[in-house]
Amino acid sequence: MRFSSLFQLTGALISFTLPAALAADSRYCLDGNTISAKDFTLQVSDDSSSLAALAAHFQSTGKNVSVSAVLNSANRALSEGSPSVGDGSPSEAWAWNSGDFETTKWMPQGITSSGDALGKGDWNGHEAWIVSWYQDGDSVRVSFVDRKTHAYRHVLLVYPDADDDFKSITIHAGGIMWYGNLLYVVDTKNGIRAFDLDNIWEVEIADGVGKMADGSGYSADGYRYVLPQIRWYKWTPGEDSPFRFSWISLDRSDSPDTLLVGEFVRDGEVDDNGDAVPIRLVKYELDSTTRQLRTDDNGLATASWAHCVDIVKMQGGVSYEGKFYLSRSNGRDPKAGDLFTWEEGKTAEEHSGWFMAGNEDLSYNQARGEYYTVTEYDGGRYILAYKV
Ligand SMILES: *[C@@H]1O[C@H](CO)[C@@H](O)[C@H](O)[C@H]1NC(C)=O
Repeated sequence: MRFSSLFQLTGALISFTLPAALAADSRYCLDGNTISAKDFTLQVSDDSSSLAALAAHFQSTGKNVSVSAVLNSANRALSEGSPSVGDGSPSEAWAWNSGDFETTKWMPQGITSSGDALGKGDWNGHEAWIVSWYQDGDSVRVSFVDRKTHAYRHVLLVYPDADDDFKSITIHAGGIMWYGNLLYVVDTKNGIRAFDLDNIWEVEIADGVGKMADGSGYSADGYRYVLPQIRWYKWTPGEDSPFRFSWISLDRSDSPDTLLVGEFVRDGEVDDNGDAVPIRLVKYELDSTTRQLRTDDNGLATASWAHCVDIVKMQGGVSYEGKFYLSRSNGRDPKAGDLFTWEEGKTAEEHSGWFMAGNEDLSYNQARGEYYTVTEYDGGRYILAYKV
């Protein structure tokens, strides 16, 4: 009797403690854990059939346009700004036009440049920035900015959800990275989405997103062009072992090229099990011919490198030749942004007050020896360029 009840007790304990055992997630940055890159996997899915049907429609109606055409049709202008900057004095500070500078509807988040797109630094003769903006729970737009004229135009990101329709994309778009003909955009809980810069479509200037009610064409909330999603890299471990795709950048010094993603975590955040929410940096290898993530035959992309860091409120980061440059934001005070420089195996160096308030994503341009950030707060929105 005693033995069997002991057995039952042990049995009960085993089934009872199993969820807790699972909670000691090997991907977490807990004492005794050594995280392994092979556990950070993304499954590719191609959104090709509806995309192909829509692309054929816009091609046949002469409304498939290039990045150059978008830049050449820019309808807004940046102006030189003189914000009170942080200790890391930028070489350039560009303010959005007054509507975009002040609006509380749209928030700029991600930045990338033609230096990411191609190592030579320009795209068909244009040096350009692309900046992402989100409208909470509603849509994402990206600004194509010509570095020569400082003119820009917004383009709406869309998801082709039928052979004759598309819808807006309701993500945070915290970071973007331009690589060849693809624009990579982070989708916080779900992974990374890729958009096809070889298929930018001209639509009617009208309200609503997608097929117009009267069937006379397509519209995009008053924007003239849309950029469609072509592919999705979904976080395979799922919600049980979450990863926050908060920002993204390109490292051309790795061989092959890699993309780096990092997590934004607030001070002292714990998950449902009371475990400290991990803060990780992860790299995936890119194929410079197809411009896609390297995957196995089953379409699984496995990280090539993963590491824990303890820098809270990370808004952006880049790496180059083994050195990491990671940014933190701390609210609206002037000089509220910090820069950390770090090499694996060493202690990070903090440069407190390096950035002005609202600093977000980081992007490095090897061709120019510059890096960039955007600041998000209404009334203080700039593109900032820094010489290395
Ligand atoms: C749209 O134009 C681009 C060049 O800008 C081209 O690469 C692409 O194939 C075209 N799309 C279609 C469906 O023909």
